[in-house]
Amino acid sequence: MQNASQFSKNGVFRLQKIGEIYKDYMKHLSWPAIDPVNVMDIGCADGEVSTKILYPLLPKNCKEFICTDVDNGMVEHCKSLKVDDKVSFKQLDITAQTLPDQYKKRFNFLFSSYCFTSVRNFRQALVNSNQLLKSNGEFLFFFMYKKNHLLTTYRRLNEIEAWRPYTQEFADFVPHFSSADPDKEAKQLLKDTGFNAISNEFRNDCYYDATARCHLGIYLSVDTIRLRVPKEKRKQYDEDFRRILSEETAIDFLKEDKLDEVADLHIPTVILTARKQE
Ligand SMILES: C[S@@+](CC[C@H](N)C(=O)[O-])C[C@H]1O[C@@H](n2cnc3c(N)ncnc32)[C@H](O)[C@@H]1O
Repeated sequence: MQNASQFSKNGVFRLQKIGEIYKDYMKHLSWPAIDPVNVMDIGCADGEVSTKILYPLLPKNCKEFICTDVDNGMVEHCKSLKVDDKVSFKQLDITAQTLPDQYKKRFNFLFSSYCFTSVRNFRQALVNSNQLLKSNGEFLFFFMYKKNHLLTTYRRLNEIEAWRPYTQEFADFVPHFSSADPDKEAKQLLKDTGFNAISNEFRNDCYYDATARCHLGIYLSVDTIRLRVPKEKRKQYDEDFRRILSEETAIDFLKEDKLDEVADLHIPTVILTARKQE
């Protein structure tokens, strides 16, 4: 389980920038004027983006807003947030082989911010997202492409004998859209999974600024591999994890006196909007 309160405490810095992306892109969607609308947020984590950023941007005819995450710790944390009756929090793996029937063809709109960064079976996640949507339903989602600081850290930890048993599934990890033509790759993938692309933008100049301590706090809060490592080996794991993560992010997490300095974290971000094919 991830540490939802640690994630929440350290992650305030992301809210403004994610809000700007949502505001910019909301206008690409065809929101119906009066009909009631069902909405899902995929990968809601601590629920801060869902409830403080996304929900206030949804028009009044939003009838239900279901916020989902694969991690039960995150979902339980969200349930303690006070929002109105239209909003609920549920556990859902967007890469599951089969989706619960009650969610199929239920939603007019899906949203997702930075969840697909860490989704391994991207194609299955898109097939499932398509199944969640009603006919002509629309999906606005964005995530890190070409880089993935955490999972490439795991891939490098897998090269160290001591951590190999705990990181096997990352041995061949490649970040999403690492090909020479990510635009073509995105369009093809959307088409193959039953979507018509509405817009896509690859923002290579996307940076999130916060203290190094906050950036590190976020990574530590979602580092579930550490929990697999026996307690007596964790000191060494922590050292290796921080050293490699510093190299992957280009932020110094090793020197205590540098942790309160503000650091720009480069998060190349792809923003996609797509409509379910008829
Ligand atoms: C970086 S957080 C982003 C959270 C939030 N949307 C935001 O913008 O701050 C990614 C979240 O995606 C969730 N996630 C990862 N894989 C998932 C999956 N297969 N299905 C659903 N959620 C997933 C993680 O548990 C995590 O809470």
